[in-house]
Amino acid sequence: MEASIRSVEYDRPHGLTCGVGEAWAKVPDAPSAARKRELKEQIRALLKREKAVLVAHYYVDAELQELADETGGCVADSLEMARFGRDHAAGTLVVAGVRFMGETAKILSPEKRVLMPDLDATCSLDLGCPADEFSAFCDAHPDRTVVVYANTSAAVKARADWMVTSSIGLEIVADLHARGEKILWAPDRHLGGYIQKKTGADMLLWQGSCLVHDEFKGIELDLLRAQYPDAKILVHPESPEAVVALADVVGSTTQLIDAAVRLDATRFIVATDLGILHKMRLAAPGKTFIEAPTAGNSATCKSCAHCPWMAMNGLSNLAEVLERGHNEISVDPAIGARARLPIDRMLDFAARHKKRVQASGDLAKDGALFSNVGAA
Ligand code: 13P
Ligand code: SF4
Repeated sequence: MEASIRSVEYDRPHGLTCGVGEAWAKVPDAPSAARKRELKEQIRALLKREKAVLVAHYYVDAELQELADETGGCVADSLEMARFGRDHAAGTLVVAGVRFMGETAKILSPEKRVLMPDLDATCSLDLGCPADEFSAFCDAHPDRTVVVYANTSAAVKARADWMVTSSIGLEIVADLHARGEKILWAPDRHLGGYIQKKTGADMLLWQGSCLVHDEFKGIELDLLRAQYPDAKILVHPESPEAVVALADVVGSTTQLIDAAVRLDATRFIVATDLGILHKMRLAAPGKTFIEAPTAGNSATCKSCAHCPWMAMNGLSNLAEVLERGHNEISVDPAIGARARLPIDRMLDFAARHKKRVQASGDLAKDGALFSNVGAA
């Protein structure tokens, strides 16, 4: 059966200005309940047969998350996915997420086979930061340390000094700033702006955005907060400044889940992809989670708070990829070797940071908990 295609608009920056680009995503099929059971059985058996491990992001379908958990894989944010894939003994990693996550896994483990349910699952941040234009931007600002977000292609990472994810970006930029370094940041303007405000660093920002988080609206969120004054607001920092300004906690997906567990509240308003609610409800049973409002409804919103590319990961294409061994990620070895430097720097920094925090006993500063309590 031919998958149907949906078109999506995304921010398409040119250096410091921003235009609009047109992309597409496949709409996955919806198997019947009986077919789902069959596919899950098949996937469990194939993971064993292929000696493969499933590494999933919190934004993919709940059924894929459950399969990853029950078969010894992991469900995580992009930093933990990278670490897990690198450290796991399996020779085959199946990455249920978007392309940059598969590429990061391959860069860190070039000897492993890295498969993805759909290689066309991309990201508006990655699309909005083409390597050649980004390279020209870097050439124009040679005095700046280049820090890129994980949501970029291998070629963009190969041009960077540092790669960061949302769970450690703030700490890394703060450290670079303390050393007197000026930063060139790409591609997410909201995350970059948030880090700039929190650290006071001199940052030149590429103007990309995530089409899911960019749609959250401050005014509507404020109205919802008035309706639920007891609720705590959890916000991913890819959201616009007006939304971040209303947050009780700003953090990566893992940090937001930790906050839902630890905070002494029973109701939360969540501004990130809806896929995260599955893990939040499991981790904090008895608590209530309300979706933050987006611009528009159904046909009028770009993403309706669910990433169209994360949604391309399904049971059918996961089973198929394991059966046929296709959809293997490949990264040019020279680009991969260069791109590994900024990723390794981040992983080493994150490990040192964790040790420092554990030694100090100040868990509030632990990136694995929630470091950004209290928005700027
Ligand atoms: P996290 O690193 O917080 O999981 O966010 C990555 C992301 O943007 C997934 O789309
Ligand atoms: Fe990219 Fe946003 Fe989708 Fe994450 S949720 S993969 S940042 S488009």
